[in-house]
Amino acid sequence: MRRHIKFSEEENVLILLDQRYLPAKEEWFVCKNLREVIFAIKNMVIRGAPAIGVVAAYGCYLGTLNLDPEDPEWREFLKKKLMELEDARPTAVNLRYVVQVMRDIWEKDEDIGLDELRWMWLKKAKEIHNEDIINNKAIGKYGLELIKDKKYIMTHCNAGGLATGGYGTALGVIRAAKSANLDIEVIANETRPFLQGARLTAYELHHDDIKVKVICDNSAGYLMSQNMVDAVIVGADRIVANGDTANKIGTYSLAVLAKYHNIPFYVAAPTSTFDLSLKTGKEIPIEKRPSKEVTHIGETKIVPSGVEVYNFAFDVTPGELITAIICEKGIIYPPYEQNIPAMVLGS
Ligand code: MRU
Repeated sequence: MRRHIKFSEEENVLILLDQRYLPAKEEWFVCKNLREVIFAIKNMVIRGAPAIGVVAAYGCYLGTLNLDPEDPEWREFLKKKLMELEDARPTAVNLRYVVQVMRDIWEKDEDIGLDELRWMWLKKAKEIHNEDIINNKAIGKYGLELIKDKKYIMTHCNAGGLATGGYGTALGVIRAAKSANLDIEVIANETRPFLQGARLTAYELHHDDIKVKVICDNSAGYLMSQNMVDAVIVGADRIVANGDTANKIGTYSLAVLAKYHNIPFYVAAPTSTFDLSLKTGKEIPIEKRPSKEVTHIGETKIVPSGVEVYNFAFDVTPGELITAIICEKGIIYPPYEQNIPAMVLGS
């Protein structure tokens, strides 16, 4: 898949493939400053936990550009902007993780000059971007072990190249299977209301010549009952110490269905998606998005005026429903309370 997050050194701008308009239009959204990066994250120009993290890293750099080193307030101003950035979306922990990585670099030397900070942050942003792709390929390699005897793989939302620095987590496993010449077919749940499955997963798999069929979200149980699903693989927005996993709304229902039908349910995510400061999924903040995403399809209103809706963007799948978690360091099996810290922290 070609790059969908690009940093132009000549123009000093971040260029993003605008995911709001795919697959109908391939438009690029240009961010010249941190304000535009925050807009892009909040408004789903870019989405997917690792991709948000990568873009946030470049955003930190862009946030230094219009500051005046002679202004005694620039440090305070930049600190506030970083807080605004990490609050742009609350559930995906990669955003906070990356902002903290950038802060740590700064805090090592609070007196650092603006020019040097700029240079260090841009270097780090590029590293974070490249490392994310390398990590996804490692996830693909480990995940391949779990699906090498399987054909029909269901996924939810988009945990692909578009949701990461490139290659993908759940779809990274699929890409690894394709590279190994396995005969694999993806079942992509459409993923109401933003339709990441129908629009984005189908777009990138079709583009890469990987077999994919889209289903309405409410078809998943029927397909499972007909032995049409061999495994489910999803991405994650936050995995806590006991394995409870926040991911796109609807993931929890799929995991319950998979358990009932005895189908393995896998989560694929880099270690930057783990939040070991939280003990259980109850502590994960769940983003609520605007009602219009549910009341409308495009500009067409589908819910009567005056009727309220729920629009939780994520749900939490209990660790006990997850067969294994694939990260760039290997495969984590239950009991997660012991095995997650051992793998993530290497203890
Ligand atoms: O609201 P989104 O599109 O940002 O939600 C994305 C997901 O839920 C993905 O499954 C998750 O971020 C993992 S992406 C590798």
